Amino acid sequence: MSKQSEPAASGWQPAQPGEQRSPCPALNSLANGGDIPRSGIATRAQLVSAMVNRLGVSTALADKLAKAALEQFGKPGEGSEPVLHLQDLCQHGKLEHDASLTRQDAHAGDNAKVDPALIEQLLSLSKNGQTLTLDDLATAHQVRMQQSAQGGHQVPSKAGFVGTVEASLLYNVLSRGPQGISLADAREFLLHERVPEGLSGRGISIGQVAANAITIAIKGNLPLCESARRAKDALKK
Ligand code: HEM
Repeated sequence: MSKQSEPAASGWQPAQPGEQRSPCPALNSLANGGDIPRSGIATRAQLVSAMVNRLGVSTALADKLAKAALEQFGKPGEGSEPVLHLQDLCQHGKLEHDASLTRQDAHAGDNAKVDPALIEQLLSLSKNGQTLTLDDLATAHQVRMQQSAQGGHQVPSKAGFVGTVEASLLYNVLSRGPQGISLADAREFLLHERVPEGLSGRGISIGQVAANAITIAIKGNLPLCESARRAKDALKK
């Protein structure tokens, strides 16, 4: 049986030789769980179904994300449907960008593989030591923007914009209530690239993601906000 049409075997398994992964923790987790083909080559319908059923994203949002990805990266598949190759998402400057929360910048290191030291940095920015709130994510995003700019590196504004949308997606998908994302869930998803159980059925909308992305951008950038002040303090350490 071909890799593309391989059935989703149950259970988590990291990528095996020849299987593709991306700089996106969500798509990698879905592939590791067999929610999209483990090969890392998926159709729009497979991407949408996995995002809706495993991550709790609304069909409208899942379809928008999958459509945008396939418009930019789609390749002919084995059937009539075009497919997304996860490894194509590593191309720097398209969707992949500087100042990621969990990956190094392309000019400085590996922009595809998770960097455990960056995960520890992110988790250490939890103010209450138990969860990542929207405020913590605003701080973390700002810390990464400024780290990326060190040494005079020009960080494209697109990196800032896309980064806030991703941080918002992370918050909306992984938080189980107003207290935010538990550090255990964050570690599971971002470090091990495994989808925590019980995230389905929330219908996360485009509006929710947009609203939280704006909040992250404002709180991280406005000097009078605590998140921006905490980012400055974290960078001094
Ligand atoms: C078809 C759908 C999707 C595509 C094509 C996609 C693509 C990508 C790409 C290319 C990156 C790398 C950006 C970078 O940091 O340089 C990324 C990062 C990210 N994605 Fe996705 N993504 C999708 C869906 C999702 C969903 C549903 C979530 C929900 C949790 C998500 C969460 C994230 C997060 C949190 C990051 C940032 C990781 C970091 O900053 O280190 N993505 N995504």
